[in-house]
Amino acid sequence: MTKIAVLGAGKIGEALLSGLLQGGRSAADLMFTEKHEARARSLTEQYGFEAVTVAGAAEKADVLIVAVKPQDIEPLLTELRPVLRAGTLIVSLCAGLPTSLYERRLPAGTPVVRVMPNTPMVVGEAMSAVSGGSNATPEHLKVVEELLSTVGKVAVVPESQQDAVTALSGSGPAYFFFLVEAMIDAGILLGIPRDLASTLIIQSAVGAATMLNEGSSHPVILREAVTSPAGTTIMAIRELEKHGVRAALLAAIESARDRSVELGRQHED
Ligand SMILES: NC(=O)c1ccc[n+]([C@@H]2O[C@H](COP(=O)([O-])OP(=O)(O)OC[C@H]3O[C@@H](n4cnc5c(N)ncnc54)[C@H](OP(=O)(O)O)[C@@H]3O)[C@@H](O)[C@H]2O)c1
Repeated sequence: MTKIAVLGAGKIGEALLSGLLQGGRSAADLMFTEKHEARARSLTEQYGFEAVTVAGAAEKADVLIVAVKPQDIEPLLTELRPVLRAGTLIVSLCAGLPTSLYERRLPAGTPVVRVMPNTPMVVGEAMSAVSGGSNATPEHLKVVEELLSTVGKVAVVPESQQDAVTALSGSGPAYFFFLVEAMIDAGILLGIPRDLASTLIIQSAVGAATMLNEGSSHPVILREAVTSPAGTTIMAIRELEKHGVRAALLAAIESARDRSVELGRQHED
């Protein structure tokens, strides 16, 4: 069985480790590094994973999953370089960090797979996009796909599309939270108590997401099915179009992509 170490067990690292445990991996095959002793103790008590040092992770694990904040990457790679065993697979969950950064900092030939996950990983519903670096083989990608499929869906994309993916699914949950928040406010405007407005909107979001996910229909077909002639929905749709909501989403996501490109440039040599 592959031994896996998560380097930096924060929100995403813990979500992945607990998802792997729920997906049937043994706690004995999972380990982590963590700067804060109290947090490390609590993760071990709660799940049974071993807290290790970076050198311990490099010695024992076959796959090292990097889940520190992008700004913490340099000291981590400096610590990892002298202890890394040949053939160990590096999986980066760090937003904006190219595989070439790892390839430059780690020993020649180190296989690296870059992943853009998203926060629904904490409920086992992540959307992760994976890209192999220049030393990653199709087998390495398969290992990563299998790992991540225990916490959601996985798509393989060329690394050149990772900035677009970051803007679409990496930030995507935030756009839905924003829409839900605005729709709850509309409920308040119409005199509905906040708790009830939240229930009405959140359940509508869950129901709509389930229909999109389980059915084979295109979103346009689903929307047209609830848009009757001279009815209430078409009145709302007219206002959404008048206020440029579709154009706003296109511009917003394009702008998020541009910011991702800009952040990635900070890691070019
Ligand atoms: N959260 C998201 O929505 C999301 C989505 C996609 C991708 N990501 C990526 O996932 C990564 C983790 O994000 P997160 O939200 O889980 O961040 P986080 O909660 O801050 O977790 C990172 C953890 O790593 C620790 N750490 C930093 N340097 C370390 C080192 N050298 N050795 C061991 N532990 C170290 C941090 O400690 P300190 O707090 O003391 O620094 C923190 O506990 C980021 O690179 C992010 O870009 C996150």
